[in-house]
Amino acid sequence: MRSFTADELRKAWKQFYIDRGHVDCGAVSLVSDGSTGVMFNVAGMQPLMPYLLGKKHPMGTRLCNVQGCVRTNDIDSVGDKSHGTFFEMMGSWSLGDYFKKERCQWSYELLTELFGFDADHLAATVFAGDENAPRDEEGAKYRIESGFKPENIFYLPAEDNWWGLEYGPCGPDSEMFYVKDIPDCGPDCGPGCHCGKYTEIGNDVFMQYEKHHDGSLTPLSQKNVDTGWGLERILAFLNGVDDVYKIDLHAPVISYIEKESGIKYEADEKTTRSMRILADHTRTAVMLIGDVAKLLPSNTGAGYILRRLIRRAVRHARTLGLNKDQILGVATIYIDEYSDSYEHLKNNKKFVLTELEREIVRFESTLENGMKEFKKILDQTSSEGKKEIAGKDAFFLYDTFGFPVELTVELAEEEGFTVDEEGFKASMEEQKQKARDNQNFAANLESGVSAFDQLSDDVTSEFVGYTSTSCDGKIVAISDGAALCDELSKGAKGTIITDKTPFYGTMGGQVGDIGVIETSDGAKFEVTETVHVAGGRTAHVGQVIEGSFKNGSQVKLLVDVENRAKTCRNHSATHLLQKALQEVLGDHVEQAGSYQDPDKTRFDFSHHQAMTAEEIRKVEDLVNAKIAEALPVVTEEMTMEEAKKTGAMALFGEKYGDVVRVVKMGDFSIELCGGTHVSNTSHVGIFKIVSESGVAAGVRRIEALTGSNARNYYIGVENNLDEAAKALKTNPADITTQIKKLQEELKALRSENESLKSKEAQAALGDVTDQVEEINGVKILATSVKGVDMNGLRDLGDQMKGKIGEGVVVLISEADGKVNLVTMATDEAISKGAHAGNLIKAIAPKVGGGGGGRPNMAQAGGKNPAGIADAIAEAKKVLAEQIG
Ligand code: ALA
Repeated sequence: MRSFTADELRKAWKQFYIDRGHVDCGAVSLVSDGSTGVMFNVAGMQPLMPYLLGKKHPMGTRLCNVQGCVRTNDIDSVGDKSHGTFFEMMGSWSLGDYFKKERCQWSYELLTELFGFDADHLAATVFAGDENAPRDEEGAKYRIESGFKPENIFYLPAEDNWWGLEYGPCGPDSEMFYVKDIPDCGPDCGPGCHCGKYTEIGNDVFMQYEKHHDGSLTPLSQKNVDTGWGLERILAFLNGVDDVYKIDLHAPVISYIEKESGIKYEADEKTTRSMRILADHTRTAVMLIGDVAKLLPSNTGAGYILRRLIRRAVRHARTLGLNKDQILGVATIYIDEYSDSYEHLKNNKKFVLTELEREIVRFESTLENGMKEFKKILDQTSSEGKKEIAGKDAFFLYDTFGFPVELTVELAEEEGFTVDEEGFKASMEEQKQKARDNQNFAANLESGVSAFDQLSDDVTSEFVGYTSTSCDGKIVAISDGAALCDELSKGAKGTIITDKTPFYGTMGGQVGDIGVIETSDGAKFEVTETVHVAGGRTAHVGQVIEGSFKNGSQVKLLVDVENRAKTCRNHSATHLLQKALQEVLGDHVEQAGSYQDPDKTRFDFSHHQAMTAEEIRKVEDLVNAKIAEALPVVTEEMTMEEAKKTGAMALFGEKYGDVVRVVKMGDFSIELCGGTHVSNTSHVGIFKIVSESGVAAGVRRIEALTGSNARNYYIGVENNLDEAAKALKTNPADITTQIKKLQEELKALRSENESLKSKEAQAALGDVTDQVEEINGVKILATSVKGVDMNGLRDLGDQMKGKIGEGVVVLISEADGKVNLVTMATDEAISKGAHAGNLIKAIAPKVGGGGGGRPNMAQAGGKNPAGIADAIAEAKKVLAEQIG
């Protein structure tokens, strides 16, 4: 057997198939675009699904690549020797080109010539046949012809030998195995028994069927081969180890973890498992954040899975005694390790580490509190004599402390408890339901929308709204919000689909059109929202205002033109904004989300700090300059490859061969976009940023206005200024001067007021010389005065101190029903034992208060004016005690 490094193996795989007429089609994002019903790219074939179903691939019919995949469905198995949540799949495809004969031949050549296996140690499985497809005798025949020994071919049922995702292309597969020189485990020993004698090394799928959403199968027009080999498993194998964590991709990380934790790998099962989980989950997190999709941890969808992975990694790091910096150490090794094959990861190293750190810090702070709650719940559960944590408690930990339920399950298991996961789901569902109940009609259409699922494929709706805002059409489906129906009559709310429509359905951040649908006999349906439903159809949501609408009727569809124009202005301005942000802030700016409706545009983008006022002004100026240049807005349809050549800013998720729309604004901005736009940037009118804020770690949000909305904004500002000027009895131009003048006046008045108050307080106190007493050689003035606040009282105290020279001053005043107390002691009095802080502490309770302070000065408040005389008497007693 030949040994390889990961990089050598990637290259050797591709070269082997390039030599046999294949083209390297490259890899796509790890995060799925959602079109295949899964969140991540789980197999090399996933981005190729349309081509396996018959669409023509621009790079031909023979393809190969190495594609990163993320599978989290068997996350619980991670921690053993072979499972990982991220792995690379070496793939090779025939898209309706060659079939079983060539593939079996090449797989055998690869196994024997490139990798150096011999026929004695190779086995293969083939499909045993069932009601869906026949026994794959042809596959067996070609395996044997290629060189496999007939006794090493095994027929297995669909459970083992049928491959496909939830829906889409699928078919019987034939897996290849390495056979170890150990005795059979029993009479039925074979690849299906998982006894360790047979190790799977690769899979050839003969894709000839399409599985539909309803579970039915139909034959495909073309016969494909989909081959996938897990890079890591084969690499471990070729290098003579049975543990993927020992291959060159993981080994440096494992030895780093060993060094930092002082624990030896394989010392015991528990710590070894934690090391593998820490390594695997950190690597997957690094790959997802460093992916072109720049996934960030969040509470939904793929972002939630990422959050779970990071949080689980942190937990296992902690059990190994490792901290945040050491997790980041693991991440850094992986980034460097993969930087040659994942360029985007290398270029975004800093971004990845910063985001990872943020999530770790975020989790660490909630972990402490959450663990306390978890312990309480555990104690409570066990005091009730139960061994199962209630679903609502697990949900509380999730909702309040961000504990993924899996974490609660793991923690509970460690203590010998279980979690009511069904109950957790029920609590989660209850919360979602509450949220749903609060949403609007269209969002509530779920059942009505799924009603459209049942429509046959030939019910389509063509969008003609790029070039027109009205057209004639025929109603092809109606829903009353719950199910399909034939008619909507006056007053009814519902959804109408027509064979043609100029209405843009909400998509790509742009909110859909509003308008009316009419019939020639005067019926009128007011469209309040336009959305996309099953089968890419456009659905008009609204209410019948007049007459009634029947399935099959001819109608006229009229988009609200002014509303559309406003949305277009906002959308076109967003393109200018994205480019301007890149020019002003740098190339790291990438779109993270966007939203345009008739009122505003909202644009989220990657950037790490708040923009300065100067940067905001520069961006605004640049966008307005491009509006003033009156750049033509030109839209072209082209293939993805052509679009890339134009340098268009692409979003992840688009696939090779897809026809995309490229929107150009002069030479300034080129973007892939399916939205509607103005025909010239001058139509945007004006552009005004009204807010810049942070929405998530590393993501900023700008909200901006255009055209008449921006103008209304300025009118609003102007009106406010006029109002302010009127109130200041001046004109808008002089507002600042006037405010400054008023501030000066206010300052002068305040100081005059202070001095008047002080004089008044003194007058109220009157001549106090006769009230000064002497206690054991220390003078004390302890008296009360009416209506002086704390500040005044302090002032007064200072003056009294001056008057008596050396000694102690105690002043108490009733003001607004409350009592203020101040005590002061001069240095000489302090040297004799006086202490203002202790003094006030002793007397404040007499007026229903408390307080303390320094030896020279203290203040306190109280609620009981009736005790003032007592407090004064007490002050003298306490001072006597202090100076003994
Ligand atoms: N798509 C096949 C697999 O993932 C090759 O096993």
